[in-house]
Amino acid sequence: MPNLDAYLPSDPRAFAARALTANAREMQGSLILGIGAEVRALAAAGRPLCNLTVGDFDPKQFPVPASLSAGVRAALEAGHTNYPPAEGIAELRKSVCGWYKRSFGIEISPDWVVVASGARPVMYSTYRLFLERGDTLVYCVPSWNNGYYGQLTEAVQVTVATKAENDFMPTAEELAEPLKGARLFTLNSPQNPTGTMIKPERLAEIARLVVAENERRRETGERPLMWMWDQVYWTLTFGAEKHAHPCALVPEVAPYVVTVDAISKSFAATGLRVGWAVLAPPLAERMKALIGHIGAWAPKPEQVATAALLDDDAAMAAFGEGFRAALHERLSLLDQGLTRLGIQHLVPQGAMYLSVRFDLFGKPGVDGQPMQTNESIRKWLLEKAGVAVVPFQAFDLMEDTGWFRMSVGAVSTAALFAALVRLEAALAT
Ligand SMILES: Cc1ncc(COP(=O)(O)O)c(C=O)c1O
Repeated sequence: MPNLDAYLPSDPRAFAARALTANAREMQGSLILGIGAEVRALAAAGRPLCNLTVGDFDPKQFPVPASLSAGVRAALEAGHTNYPPAEGIAELRKSVCGWYKRSFGIEISPDWVVVASGARPVMYSTYRLFLERGDTLVYCVPSWNNGYYGQLTEAVQVTVATKAENDFMPTAEELAEPLKGARLFTLNSPQNPTGTMIKPERLAEIARLVVAENERRRETGERPLMWMWDQVYWTLTFGAEKHAHPCALVPEVAPYVVTVDAISKSFAATGLRVGWAVLAPPLAERMKALIGHIGAWAPKPEQVATAALLDDDAAMAAFGEGFRAALHERLSLLDQGLTRLGIQHLVPQGAMYLSVRFDLFGKPGVDGQPMQTNESIRKWLLEKAGVAVVPFQAFDLMEDTGWFRMSVGAVSTAALFAALVRLEAALAT
């Protein structure tokens, strides 16, 4: 039996460099997944560790709604094993419309909805639909994955650095200049990595800015400014903050908005792969074609089960209450622990994250040298406190500001307690 490794060129890297396109050569793997692998290796070596790096849910801590898994099994048994329609099954597209009507008070027909295997395919499709090489993409930093998609589509990337005092959310004022030349603008709330939300009045101001910019462009004949509104965490909100949809606040913005959503986070169902985009029907037609070519449909049994879940307000409410409480319990534990230790952080408002600032610059790092970068602080926290966090650099913020993301999707409250004790001891040295 031939072992194909033996047939590889003697210098496989040089071979790959010649074989791949320039774009593929420059493509980066996820930095967060790289950090996760390092953390798992330490844990396997028996080190006490609290892994706050993963943006995923541990199914033991956070199972999906029982009716969703039962629905998937039943749909599989019922023989839903063939290709779904490229735009998603009619029942699910209708369920999304109903859910949005009840939740946000906006009315859309199923022609606005394109279903895919999670949020990522519709996000990438949005970039592909509206950005040509050299077009300007505007996004805020820190934020999730825009840099990767920007590189893939060869866009000119313009970043707007947000401020901790504004919950790491942009203001219309900060966006006004950058949006003038842009083709695509993206915004996510509740936000990964910050765990913060944009206030409805701020969101309305941004929506009005997008409308005004597009009215100006209609006069000049310039192509429209499109807005990708990523709300995959919208059901996971805590406290007084309420999630709002830009089209409910300013309906005139609807032609320019691509809403991105999924069951991944709202129902702890990251592995089931059901997401969707909501966008104007003539644009949705093109997205359907693209999703079809990639074959990035959501599996049919999952679509059938998701449609039933989104129609069932009682099941969603019962699940959501327990899920939010469990997430909030963990985030509050961190919030209180960090407050007690006098560590700067933002009170979590939504999603599964907490923004924390470890200002350990100048203190001796693991190599005995003064720490000057977020990376050196990250390594120190991992080595000395067994606390694994992700620096904001993984979210396209270039500066070493000392800000990190903590994620509670894969940890128990006991693990968090233990981590805070270790952190206190490490900081005391
Ligand atoms: C802000 C944000 N949008 C979208 C996604 C992608 O979701 P999905 O797993 O459905 O592709 C993630 C995943 O971490 C995310 O954090």
